[in-house]
Amino acid sequence: MLPTIGMEHTVRFVLNGKSADVRAHPMKRLLDVLREECGLTGTKEGCGEGECGACTVLLDGQAVNACLVPFGQVRGRSVKTVEGLRGRHPLQQAFVTEGGTQCGICTPGMIMAAAALPKGATLDDVRVGLAGNICRCTGYEGIYRAVRRAAGSRLPASGSRRQAQARTRKAAR
Ligand code: FES
Ligand code: FES
Repeated sequence: MLPTIGMEHTVRFVLNGKSADVRAHPMKRLLDVLREECGLTGTKEGCGEGECGACTVLLDGQAVNACLVPFGQVRGRSVKTVEGLRGRHPLQQAFVTEGGTQCGICTPGMIMAAAALPKGATLDDVRVGLAGNICRCTGYEGIYRAVRRAAGSRLPASGSRRQAQARTRKAAR
């Protein structure tokens, strides 16, 4: 948690499909507000500086790093956390079936980033979509298989994360 100075505000937004009024400093990190004010501890903190993806949530359907989003920016918008999937999303079962999770710290962020992928995402789309999410345990192949399984494909993942990151950097130029 980072210290914040000054006035708290009540911010109305949609949290996991329900309207919510949450009081916190507008510059407090969304990550901290979710975990502390909202009690939603499924969203994890890894690096705290936008590098690991552990804190990924959906903001109006787009994957964002909650450690980089000031709480005031969610006013009037829709936030979805891993709790919003209610344990019933096909991605959640697929991560278990395919061995896509070991220690589990990266898993909520991986699942939320995968949930933001478009329908019919190719293996390349999956690699690029998850390139900002770091896992120290699984070697990624189980994760890619899980995302592909949830999308209805059982094709094995191949290739390297380094290749996916190179493509992401190229696309960002
Ligand atoms: Fe947010 Fe690492 S904790 S990107
Ligand atoms: Fe441990 Fe990904 S399962 S960091």
